Amino acid sequence: MTTLAFDIYGTLIDTHGVRQALATLVGDKATAFSQLWRDKQLEYTFRRGLMRLHADFTVCTQQALAYTNAALQTGLSPDAQSHLMTLYKTLPAFADVATGLPVLQRDALTLYAFSNGNAEMVTGLLQHAGIDEHFQGVVSVQPVSSYKPDPAVYRYFLDQAQVSADEAWMVSSNPFDVMGAKSAGMRAIWVRRDASAVFDPWEITPDAEVASIAEIADIVKPR
Ligand code: 2OP
Repeated sequence: MTTLAFDIYGTLIDTHGVRQALATLVGDKATAFSQLWRDKQLEYTFRRGLMRLHADFTVCTQQALAYTNAALQTGLSPDAQSHLMTLYKTLPAFADVATGLPVLQRDALTLYAFSNGNAEMVTGLLQHAGIDEHFQGVVSVQPVSSYKPDPAVYRYFLDQAQVSADEAWMVSSNPFDVMGAKSAGMRAIWVRRDASAVFDPWEITPDAEVASIAEIADIVKPR
């Protein structure tokens, strides 16, 4: 069965959806804050993976928030940080997601959410965005105690979805995730909503590139 593994943070769900709340808290530093928070969150997952010092994705997110607050000298109180962490549980989906997913379902493809986030957080986000019904299930990397792009987490996905690598497509806006999946034998689509986004110039390239979720139907056909 042809299976699509959807990355969540940054692909279906907009990690910069807290910008408005940030604007009231940190003013014109909001955009820089949001970007550094996200970059540090991912850096912490990479580092924890390499150090074999696993902590839940929520911990990486919270520690990245504390780092950003200190680095940008924004003086957010513990309460304000806790408020932002709460908002992170209801981040919005990108505008093309709610219309794109049903198109893929009509094509009888099997859809999974596959994320660094823990299953509870991811399920909550999908429910809040009203898109949970499109997924066969949520696969979190958490039981592997590692993070993308460790090959072990992609193998874990294939195992959980009971699909072979050549029938499984990773769908991600995060180049490191596309590259990780390809390196683990899966096929992969890069979601490039922003034409100025750059793919890392390594020897690994995506099988296809789309600007919105619905376009995936033109690339992946059920077998
Ligand atoms: C996710 O796994 C990489 O943050 C991204 O949802």
